[in-house]
Amino acid sequence: MGKVIVFTGTPGTGKTSLCNYIVKRNKDWVHLDLGSFAVSVNAIIGYDRIMKSSIINMRALKKALRNYVLNMPDDSNLLIDGHYAAEVSPANCVDCCIVLRCRPDILWKRLIKIRGYEEKKARINIESELTDYCYLTAKRYLRNVRIVQFDTSNTSIVKLYRRFMKCYENDFKCEGDDVDWISYFSKHPEKFSRLFH
Ligand SMILES: Nc1ncnc2c1ncn2[C@@H]1O[C@H](COP(=O)(O)OP(=O)(O)OP(=O)(O)O)[C@@H](O)[C@H]1O
Ligand SMILES: [Mg+2]
Repeated sequence: MGKVIVFTGTPGTGKTSLCNYIVKRNKDWVHLDLGSFAVSVNAIIGYDRIMKSSIINMRALKKALRNYVLNMPDDSNLLIDGHYAAEVSPANCVDCCIVLRCRPDILWKRLIKIRGYEEKKARINIESELTDYCYLTAKRYLRNVRIVQFDTSNTSIVKLYRRFMKCYENDFKCEGDDVDWISYFSKHPEKFSRLFH
């Protein structure tokens, strides 16, 4: 039976980069980007002009995703990639949830400089990262699933890939990172003062 692995995390933490890297090196694995999947199953119901992103019918997406997972070939592993992946994935089929994290000052640079986000949108995402939004959502929706956090702040995709494969080979019994950005900033206030610049 193939494994179902959820990749969640604030936009810009590197979910798609890591999943792409994994499927390039593991031929029969499947990468499901929820953004494109939502389009393909007609689960887009509008456009949020402030966030400049699609509004998704979560119930429809959840139903389509459950069907997709239940009809997967037995021998392929599935990587479900999206910042709302924990919310819509069928919890009883999920083997592990990886939450990618990124130090907010570093994530800010990725969102503004690399992704070209407007400050308002970047700020909302930084607030989510600061308050562990994706991690807490994963804990809430995937109650009996192993949840492992990877801090991507100062590490490469290759290193993250090796770390993930080790975790996978060990049946997901692996050590995650303890992330606490508020404590980090209280120890490094100079970093906090540069956060939104
Ligand atoms: N470990 C990393 N170190 C440095 N830069 C990274 C790392 N991972 C990803 N990036 C860069 O950050 C940007 C965002 O990565 P990516 O698109 O994979 O994020 P995402 O989590 O899939 O975001 P979204 O939720 O918006 O789809 C990319 O330009 C990528 O090159
Ligand atoms: Mg992505």
